[in-house]
Amino acid sequence: EKIVLAYSGGLDTSVIIPWLKENYDAEVIAVCGDVGQGKETDGLEEKALRTGASKLYIEDLTEEFITEAIYPCIKANAVYEGKYLLGTSMARPIIAKKLVEIAKKEGATAICHGATGKGNDQVRFELTIKALAPELKIIAPWRLDTWGMESREDEMAYLEARGIPFPAKKDDSYSRDRNIWHLSHEGLELEDPANEPNYEHLLQMGVSPENAPDVPEYVTVDFEAGVPVSVNGEKLGPVALLTKLNEIGGKNGIGIIDICENRVVGMKSRGVYETPGGAILYYAHRELEYLCLDKKTLAYNEVASNKLTELVYSGEWFTPLREALCAYFDHTNATVTGSVKMKLYKGNIISAGATSPYSLYNESIASFTTGEMYNHKDADGFINLFGLSMKVRAMMLQNNENK
Ligand code: ARG
Ligand code: SIN
Repeated sequence: EKIVLAYSGGLDTSVIIPWLKENYDAEVIAVCGDVGQGKETDGLEEKALRTGASKLYIEDLTEEFITEAIYPCIKANAVYEGKYLLGTSMARPIIAKKLVEIAKKEGATAICHGATGKGNDQVRFELTIKALAPELKIIAPWRLDTWGMESREDEMAYLEARGIPFPAKKDDSYSRDRNIWHLSHEGLELEDPANEPNYEHLLQMGVSPENAPDVPEYVTVDFEAGVPVSVNGEKLGPVALLTKLNEIGGKNGIGIIDICENRVVGMKSRGVYETPGGAILYYAHRELEYLCLDKKTLAYNEVASNKLTELVYSGEWFTPLREALCAYFDHTNATVTGSVKMKLYKGNIISAGATSPYSLYNESIASFTTGEMYNHKDADGFINLFGLSMKVRAMMLQNNENK
């Protein structure tokens, strides 16, 4: 029997390898989906084999993650509970899809992941597996009685008892999830929402606003049909573009958020997220929409965006409704093309002008000084009809008062 394991090289997934071999008498194929977590993949193969995996796949999914998951969410301005830019949520289905692909190729019968029974990630992994390969068994050790481990100490002892060397790095840090879009932090002082986050301790993708430069930095992003294509006039591929914006945003203290969010499983949990490049892209995309979309489309987008956000957060990526909503946003973004200039200053993004060949802004209509296309007198009749129902109601109220 073969089992495919979603592998990161951390302590949890390192313990899971020998645990699977003992409890299922199976060959363990470790798969690391690289969605831009950076250095974390160095030395991973040796580690996986040392802990007993029969092989390790490292799959570079970074570009696919950006074009297939991040860009659709930018087009939709998808933001969870008003703050969270969905960095972990968007990545899980991309990783899980690759796990399924490799499981099929290897003839594996099960997929195993190291997410706990308290979180969202288990839901996202498993819904994707169900949607793509209903025949595959799912193993979530943290939810099984046979697991029996509760702490890092338990896990270290488990490895030691089996003579498996594991660098005994004492980890007293946050629970983190990193990819090219974001870095999440949970745990430690964040577990009490009354505490201010220890930003000096936790920030890694950038600096806090107070440590950002005292002079503003301008950045310009160009979009084509809702997709970012260049930064400061330089055409860049998806990975280079996001890397560049992360660097620019990070050093100006952009995109740090702190939220007590509602998890799918019902509890609230507190997290701090760094999304420096993402915050710039979301802001720029919205600015362009203000220029290019009519009132009713803009308003309806909010409705569609909320629904899409909910699906993404909850791991319902491979569903007909998610696909339909993305198709809707592809359509509304057809004219979201142009250039947005922003001023970055100590954690703030300030608009500094936008242009688009599809702009619906018409100076000769809107200007206070010119305006042949707009006849002030037309407003008389318009307001009479627009206000008719208010006038009728006010007359009725007056009549009743006089009785
Ligand atoms: N709360 C965020 C989410 O559900 C971040 C989760 C981070 N995941 C992790 N395994 N540390 O999307
Ligand atoms: C986990 O429980 O594995 C991490 C947190 C989450 O998935 O929300």
